[in-house]
Amino acid sequence: MSVKLRNVVPWGHSLDEYIRMFDLSAADRQRLILDCAGGAASFNLEMTRLGYKIISCDPIYQFSTSEIIQHIEESYSNVFKSVQANRDGYIWRETQSPTQLEEAGMTALRQFLDDLPAGLQQGRYVTAQLPVLPFNTGQFDLALSGHFLFTNSDILSQEFHLAALLEMCRVATEVRIFPLLMLSGEVSPWVEPVKKELESRGYKVETQPVPYEFQKGGDQMLRVSVPG
Ligand SMILES: C[S@@+](CC[C@H](N)C(=O)[O-])C[C@H]1O[C@@H](n2cnc3c(N)ncnc32)[C@H](O)[C@@H]1O
Repeated sequence: MSVKLRNVVPWGHSLDEYIRMFDLSAADRQRLILDCAGGAASFNLEMTRLGYKIISCDPIYQFSTSEIIQHIEESYSNVFKSVQANRDGYIWRETQSPTQLEEAGMTALRQFLDDLPAGLQQGRYVTAQLPVLPFNTGQFDLALSGHFLFTNSDILSQEFHLAALLEMCRVATEVRIFPLLMLSGEVSPWVEPVKKELESRGYKVETQPVPYEFQKGGDQMLRVSVPG
């Protein structure tokens, strides 16, 4: 079930975007957070600066800064071509143009790259690849994953999604996944079957609106609570 890294773009978002994507309250931010598939987001750096406790994991953290830059440079132009071609599938409100989108991603990327050496040393960035995580059972209060699961349903199977979610539920007492849409803008076909399977195993599963929408209709997260 390994993932071809080249197929998943390490695009990253900011703290402000994470707060809205996952509807993170002030109390949520006080919890011990795992950001799964954290990629080149500036979330970890910004949270750490504010004194919060967070670990991000992603397979790209095994690579050097120059290898990450090379991978991102190779994949960014494809992302922006695809966004440009599908402009109507997005809401250009806070982000007003594909150029501004690229600038925001590059800002998060630069902040992430500056922070990576110190973050690796402090154990805030951990190399890990779902569906197996190198963390203890119940180690985190909240596990987040943005723009990886559901987003990449064209290359990640239903079986992979279930295994990944169960693993996140093993290491955290609550899991939130955003968005529920694929890059095409359609709802992932795995949302409902995975939700049913988790419910049948005793987890409480909800789809919940969030105050963030960039892909049209992409304003919901999946929230899974692990039974006590
Ligand atoms: C689009 S980025 C998302 C970054 C961040 N979560 C955000 O929303 O800003 C997707 C990330 O998934 C990571 N990834 C790919 N395969 C993975 C796996 N099997 N387990 C965890 N992360 C993976 C990629 O390296 C990439 O950084």
